[in-house]
Amino acid sequence: KKKMILDLDTGIDDALALAYALADPDCDLIGIIGSYGNVYVEQGVQNSLDLLALLGANDVPVYSGAQHASYTDSFSVLPVSAQIHGKNGVANIKLSKAKRTPEKTSGVDFLIDAAHKYKDQLLFVPTGPLTNLAAAIEKDPTIIDLIGHVTLMGGALTVPGNVSPVAEANIHQDPEAANEVFSSRLPLTMVGLDVTTRTLLTRHETKHWRKLGTKAATVYADLVDYYIDAYKTTNPHLHGCALHDPLAVGVAIDPSLVEKIALNLKVEVKDIYEGRTIGDETRLNNPTVTTDVAVNVDKDRFLDKFMNRLTPLFAA
Ligand code: BDR
Ligand code: CA
Repeated sequence: KKKMILDLDTGIDDALALAYALADPDCDLIGIIGSYGNVYVEQGVQNSLDLLALLGANDVPVYSGAQHASYTDSFSVLPVSAQIHGKNGVANIKLSKAKRTPEKTSGVDFLIDAAHKYKDQLLFVPTGPLTNLAAAIEKDPTIIDLIGHVTLMGGALTVPGNVSPVAEANIHQDPEAANEVFSSRLPLTMVGLDVTTRTLLTRHETKHWRKLGTKAATVYADLVDYYIDAYKTTNPHLHGCALHDPLAVGVAIDPSLVEKIALNLKVEVKDIYEGRTIGDETRLNNPTVTTDVAVNVDKDRFLDKFMNRLTPLFAA
């Protein structure tokens, strides 16, 4: 069975990704690394611990990752995140506090060790900035040839960005790190706004969860209803909230959910194009192509899978 590590900046869609990875019988969730972005790293780590406790999964270890992008010393969270995910990343809900603390080992070291231990069985799914992954490959470049596959939520190729006309939030947080990852030989799938903004959750699904009557189902329905309302104000053309991060988990487990094009990508690191994911003109004729970019998604099949996994987890 494949082993999955999530790297989350635990906001609401990250919380959904966590639940999905936990519920899927086709992979073992072996750990979560905390990142910054929607919230500061400490808050994200706490959210992951609390959500795992809520879902009865206190055995999944949580590690702290980088506090900010490598090119800066400032601890940044996206200003817009408070509106979309709530100030604490989880819709301003006070989750019951987990009875444990994060692991002592750093997230970067955990990832390196797991790559050596599980090799091609390891699926790494970052749904925040790529700072931890870039730091891990800098510290131990041998993991590039060990990790089975990286399926990341981030970027936009065929649609505009969401934090600037050209940039998606996770890539924009640390364009240098993202560029390092895209230009490495790591086997990557980019699950970007091209596909994630087509997979939407609506009140139809949260009503269904509420009927389950459990604490987990109610908390998750509250999280998603908050997210749906926020989406209405920021993305009036969408009817529901985008399942950005859960789709990356879905595609990591079942790549056939999306249609992909093979490309060597780069990330623009400065000026108005900062954070743009685009084909790398210097590697156009390079016979080794390392990134599959998801450009189309079987959204009905994904949503069915997503609900079929989450409902029994929330009902338990
Ligand atoms: C990404 O940005 C974050 O706000 C979400 O959690 C998701 O990972 C979407 O651009
Ligand atoms: Ca995220």
